[in-house]
Amino acid sequence: SRTIKLALIPGDGIGPEVVTEAVKVLKAAVPSGVTVDTTLFPLGATNFLETGEILNEETLNDLKAFDAILLGAVGGDPRDPRLKGGIIERGLLLKLRFAFDHYVNLRPTRLFPGSESPLSNPGTVDFVVVREGTEGPYVGNGGSIRVGTPHEVANEVSVNTAYGVERVVRFAFETATTRQRKKLTLVHKTNVLVNAGSLWQRTVDAVSAEYPDILVDYLHVDAATIFLVTDPSRFDVIVTDNLFGDILTDLAAAISGGIGLAASGNINPDGTYPSMFEPVHGSAPDIAGKQLADPTAAILSTALLLDHLGLTDASASVTAAVTSDLAARGTTRRSTAEVGDAIAARLAQN
Ligand code: NAD
Ligand code: IPM
Ligand code: MN
Repeated sequence: SRTIKLALIPGDGIGPEVVTEAVKVLKAAVPSGVTVDTTLFPLGATNFLETGEILNEETLNDLKAFDAILLGAVGGDPRDPRLKGGIIERGLLLKLRFAFDHYVNLRPTRLFPGSESPLSNPGTVDFVVVREGTEGPYVGNGGSIRVGTPHEVANEVSVNTAYGVERVVRFAFETATTRQRKKLTLVHKTNVLVNAGSLWQRTVDAVSAEYPDILVDYLHVDAATIFLVTDPSRFDVIVTDNLFGDILTDLAAAISGGIGLAASGNINPDGTYPSMFEPVHGSAPDIAGKQLADPTAAILSTALLLDHLGLTDASASVTAAVTSDLAARGTTRRSTAEVGDAIAARLAQN
């Protein structure tokens, strides 16, 4: 028998609604003999406004003892002056990604049969974005001077280290070896961001010498957005930096059935720290509290979680249950809980 120690950070807005359904499905998916032991961490904007705390060192330390973290979404009302400057997003979500060295932000994209793409002729959409998770402009390196004057200068510096780029590029090549098409596309902007671009391109070139079976390709990020819309089937594994990866994966979600289906894993491949799984979407304040959110993205994130913990059969069964649920989805609107119940019921049948 095995116990999975799972930390839950439901967060804000629709976060708690989708996490409830994800946990329901996760518990239905694990084989007998495996227990999911959840511990709730009520962190986020709501908690900050009540307690003044975002993520203290003690909580951060407590989280280290878990096998994995499941997060819903964080972020409150963007017009609330107390939440200005993304203090929750940076102080909680990014802090966890950085502290737990989640250098791989894994974002698979698939157009499941039965899901509708806004593209009239999408073809096969089945690729995975390996987004770097600990560098780029997300590091917070930069600053402003002469703020509020006509001479204001505002800088965000994108940090790219040889160490950081190489480890995520290696992960992307390894991912490509597991896939049928064995193709890797570097996405960057080497025609303008020449310093970082050169580092990324040289790293991909060097590592590719060790992977003769992997077909390597390059696209500028602007052109990549064209092809994601006009010919998404050309993509298999995309490796890219933190900011490009953020933007591309919302687009990837949009072409593959919507943001309500897009899952992600913030992975620490070394296993030094717990990895963290979350839907790609945010707290969606426009639909929060109404049972309107699609929990599928959170549910598919538990498939990534199970896979990461070595429970590959349980992971595959979650994906299979989601696949059949999506295929059976008609035009009838279901509540968040109804979707979770339906997917959990499919698991219980097996
Ligand atoms: P968002 O993803 O929350 O919402 C964008 C649009 O997608 C909205 O119309 C929303 O209703 C819809 N949507 C999102 N998830 C959905 C779901 N599961 N089912 C159906 N519709 C869904 O992005 P945003 O509006 O830019 O951000 C809102 C807040 O969330 C901000 O505070 C932002 O910083 C934060 N955010 C957090 C995370 C995270 O915690 N990982 C990710 C993105 C944004
Ligand atoms: C995401 C989100 C985050 C990001 C924000 C909320 C900091 O958009 O997970 O995609 O930019 O990484
Ligand atoms: Mn994003």
